[in-house]
Amino acid sequence: MENVLKYIESNRDNFVIELKEFLKIPSISTNPENKNDVRDCALFVEKEMRSIGLENVKIHETPGHPIVYGEWLHAGKDVPTILVYGHYDVQPVDPVELWTDPPFTPAVKDGKIYARGAADDKGQVFIHFKSIQSHLLNNKSLPVNLKILIEGEEEIGSVNLDSFIEKNKELLKCDYVVISDTGMFDKDVPSICYGLRGLAYMQVEVTGPNRDLHSGSFGGAVDNPINALAHIICKLKDDKGKILIDGFYDDVIPLNEKERIEYTKLPFDERKYKESLEIEETFGEEGYSTLERASARPTLDCNGIWGGFQGEGAKTVLPSKAGAKISMRLVPNQEPDKIEKLFAEYVKKISPKTVKVTVKSLHGGKGAITPIDSPAMDAAVEAMKKGFGKIPLFTREGGSIPVVSTFQSLLNAPTILLGFGLPDENIHSPDEHFSLDNFHKGILSISNYYNELSKIKK
Ligand code: BES
Ligand code: MN
Ligand code: MN
Repeated sequence: MENVLKYIESNRDNFVIELKEFLKIPSISTNPENKNDVRDCALFVEKEMRSIGLENVKIHETPGHPIVYGEWLHAGKDVPTILVYGHYDVQPVDPVELWTDPPFTPAVKDGKIYARGAADDKGQVFIHFKSIQSHLLNNKSLPVNLKILIEGEEEIGSVNLDSFIEKNKELLKCDYVVISDTGMFDKDVPSICYGLRGLAYMQVEVTGPNRDLHSGSFGGAVDNPINALAHIICKLKDDKGKILIDGFYDDVIPLNEKERIEYTKLPFDERKYKESLEIEETFGEEGYSTLERASARPTLDCNGIWGGFQGEGAKTVLPSKAGAKISMRLVPNQEPDKIEKLFAEYVKKISPKTVKVTVKSLHGGKGAITPIDSPAMDAAVEAMKKGFGKIPLFTREGGSIPVVSTFQSLLNAPTILLGFGLPDENIHSPDEHFSLDNFHKGILSISNYYNELSKIKK
């Protein structure tokens, strides 16, 4: 390991220069106009994987964006085979005017690199690339057998990934999956994530009269789709944060006493949290702490809403249509398909006869919990200790990576979530950035992790 670690130390700056090239590619998976950029990004990943010494590197086409796969399988039968998963696609950049520097012109400031995808997930994928490179270049070998799968559709719900995994079970066969696409508890507070939430993402469209109307001539006599939609939204959740959809909580596994005690031990400062967000009060389900609400309890949020006049000034209109995007974060054991049905039934039930309401589901994914007491987790603790000089905490996070449950069910492989993002790095938001200290310590941790995993005898 010594030569590997020395190499990582002396290439600190080079790795950042290389990462910039990855960050320059606008691989926004949801935008049709970026389709070629997404492909260019897949080509970049393919080239990078070849150059760091991976074999059988190939772009696999899907009905959507390509998947890139590579492997190195010469570590022998006595050591585990690890599948590393990540994504090279990124979220849209809007509102682009709120970025200090353009989102695809990476800028380094105060030890942070700013660009869309810096933390989610290109910077973290690059941690694995540079770890692999550091091993292969210095030792001509890796401590474990390694397969690496980088997709281009994570941010749009990994729509073609499950069928790819289904068709390539043999290719992807592994003992463990490792993903670096989550965050640490805080700066200098390393943590390992053992739980993610699921997701059910819905769209509600409300149609009233067959055309926009003069609100003076018709207002008061014809129902307004925006008002009707607002009523519907208000009935989804009570003012104490409890979701009112019939049956919504039926499959929720309550937190047990031990888990709740563990939550209270985390170094969380509610006052700082509020200050950093400039809010007077937090809001959420009664009877739960902020950390529990944001990671271990299901929730429902409006993600977008439209209808009527949005321009400058006033227009007296009774609009014909209104709509909203509404998503629910789920906890493990809640089935997205079932929740989507419950949502649709409930919205139908509470919709007034005065408007037409349609409900469709956009995408969903299951939550996941991984056991803390496994040899691969023990190895992760050791690796984080070596990378950060501190014993990591165990946390659950509120975000979603739907493929984790697929790896569990189709490959029967536990997933270890070893992520290096920080809570204030603005993922999915303007001025996304990634701490270069964590980038560097991440490379140290992951390089050590491959090594620690090799000590698990099969
Ligand atoms: N990397 C995130 C997931 C994440 C965020 C995990 C924060 C832990 C903490 C991932 O890229 C993501 O954004 N996932 C989406 C889900 C997907 C189905 C669109 C999400 O959580 O909204
Ligand atoms: Mn991600
Ligand atoms: Mn994301």
